[in-house]
Amino acid sequence: MALRPYIVGNWKMNGTRATLAEARAIDRAAARHPAVEVALAPPFTLVMAMAEAVQEIAVGGQDCHAKPSGAFTGDVAAAQLADAGARFAIVGHSERRTLHGEGDGLVRAKAEAALAEGLGVIVCVGETEAERDAGQAEAVVASQLAGSLPGAEAGVERVSVAYEPVWAIGTGRVPSLDDVGAMHRAIRAHLAAAYGAAGAGVRILYGGSVNAANALELLGADEVSGALVGGASLTAESFSAIIAAAAQRVEG
Ligand code: PGA
Repeated sequence: MALRPYIVGNWKMNGTRATLAEARAIDRAAARHPAVEVALAPPFTLVMAMAEAVQEIAVGGQDCHAKPSGAFTGDVAAAQLADAGARFAIVGHSERRTLHGEGDGLVRAKAEAALAEGLGVIVCVGETEAERDAGQAEAVVASQLAGSLPGAEAGVERVSVAYEPVWAIGTGRVPSLDDVGAMHRAIRAHLAAAYGAAGAGVRILYGGSVNAANALELLGADEVSGALVGGASLTAESFSAIIAAAAQRVEG
């Protein structure tokens, strides 16, 4: 793996203060594998407490609003995330795109808002099963990237992309390694076109049913520089195994 592997846990709407013990254990696992960059995105309610509880790992938000402040009931601004100790935000997750109707333009605005506050950003893209069956997967992802990636002037070195096929999220199904590699190569080419030389430094994470058993293999696919992990990031036991798999990929 050419870039420092980036293993990110997305806790979605899971976790209370009692779960911080898992975050502490994940933090200790991350300390054992300094070659790997590890991060967790808990629900907003836990960002501050988790950021205070850990030392090695970065804590981030699962979303942020595109505007700096205002009458947006229930939303959280990037500056508020940063103030709570967050270092990054995930934007454009398929659950936000589908369940909250977020389109590419909004995802891009959120990404730029996060970068403007000094946060890193993970921009998520991925096709549905119907789109893959129709042979449209690469075209769909290319169009999501064209619409959702932040502008070149916004801070490319803090941008990562997560390729998450919608049909692989939470289902236990994963694409073939060939399909993962082909999509990641296509994303890399898109990044080079969008960002020039800086595009080579953008990490491309695979997400969708990554677990302790398949992580080593998936992390070995072409142009995979990390993983965005949902269910298997909720316990230190499974997430630590994924961190260790990433370390094995770098250290051999
Ligand atoms: P999963 O979720 O690992 O539970 O499939 C991944 C994600 O939605 O980021």
